[in-house]
Amino acid sequence: MISGVLRRLGEQASLRAFSSSSSSPRAAAPPPRSSSGFPPYRLIERDYLAEAQEKFARLERLYHIGQKNAWDGRAVLKMLLEKHGGIRPLPREKKEAIARIFSVILWGELAAWNVSADIAESLEDVEAKMAASGQVFDEARHFYTMRDYLLELGIEIPPLDGFTRAVLIDILETESILEKLIGMQLLVENIAVNLFRAVAKSRIEPVLADLMPYFEQDEARHVGLGVLYLPSKLRAISRLESLELQLFQLKVSTFVVWGTVLLRDSFEALGVDLNSTFTHGLKNQLEIFASMGRFEGGTRGIYVPTGLLARMNDLAIELYFPRASAPRPAWMKAVHGVMGEVARGCEHVLKWTA
Ligand SMILES: [Fe+2]
Ligand SMILES: [Fe+2]
Repeated sequence: MISGVLRRLGEQASLRAFSSSSSSPRAAAPPPRSSSGFPPYRLIERDYLAEAQEKFARLERLYHIGQKNAWDGRAVLKMLLEKHGGIRPLPREKKEAIARIFSVILWGELAAWNVSADIAESLEDVEAKMAASGQVFDEARHFYTMRDYLLELGIEIPPLDGFTRAVLIDILETESILEKLIGMQLLVENIAVNLFRAVAKSRIEPVLADLMPYFEQDEARHVGLGVLYLPSKLRAISRLESLELQLFQLKVSTFVVWGTVLLRDSFEALGVDLNSTFTHGLKNQLEIFASMGRFEGGTRGIYVPTGLLARMNDLAIELYFPRASAPRPAWMKAVHGVMGEVARGCEHVLKWTA
């Protein structure tokens, strides 16, 4: 679905440049609250409006599409519970696996809700502000629908794992709008879409499986906000700022991998193929970057693995998250065992230093 949305976005005329006056990660931080320039009368000047519409019409469209396709989480969950005769009875270990994985989703939705509200508040371009505001409504719906589903499941939700918690706090607390947009819109949203797809495919629990496509259709729009808006903000950043953004991206991606290592047993208990999930996730990520490349500013400041680095990523997936059907020799099991121990050790350090 992401690629479909991106293709549609990319097929249209390319986005023109923004003013680059506030493009650096730190300079893009929300300005101190001041009402001295309020109201910004230029927002209703015809020339300004015409120019803004020419540049950002597709961002505004994301808002209208979101409003048109908005679904009622209470009605959908009720309909699915009736359709399937309630939650399917599951062995306790399967329920616990769902709870561990969906602790990540639940708190990820709350983080996305807060981050999109931050972005909506900070952006000055009305069309981008509208797209972010639409996302705030979507994430609120995702949070309460997932919470209500987990209450129906009737199992205690464990605390968030240390790696995911650290990543979400980083994105919540950074004052850089660029880091918020890259971390949430490009990375976390893409991971969420692929996770929703994988859980739906595993059909471990029919209500949950049928709920996932509703979430997925909204998340694809949220990625669209990053793809359409970020390039013009990235085009004027300095090399140092570019390096800072790439290190931030690297940290988010690395922590996501280690968080997955911690949850490996839960994914396997639910029949989620991590190899396919990571492979498709990486492919979608590269499609997202390619879509950004069509706009002025492109992927400046974004780490895009190519050539040998891309190949190393593929090999790492095969080694760390082999296909379910692939043989797992003793040495590979030993590597996975060591990885699990390292992940648990690092998680303790993260909790200790938090
Ligand atoms: Fe969401
Ligand atoms: Fe989202």
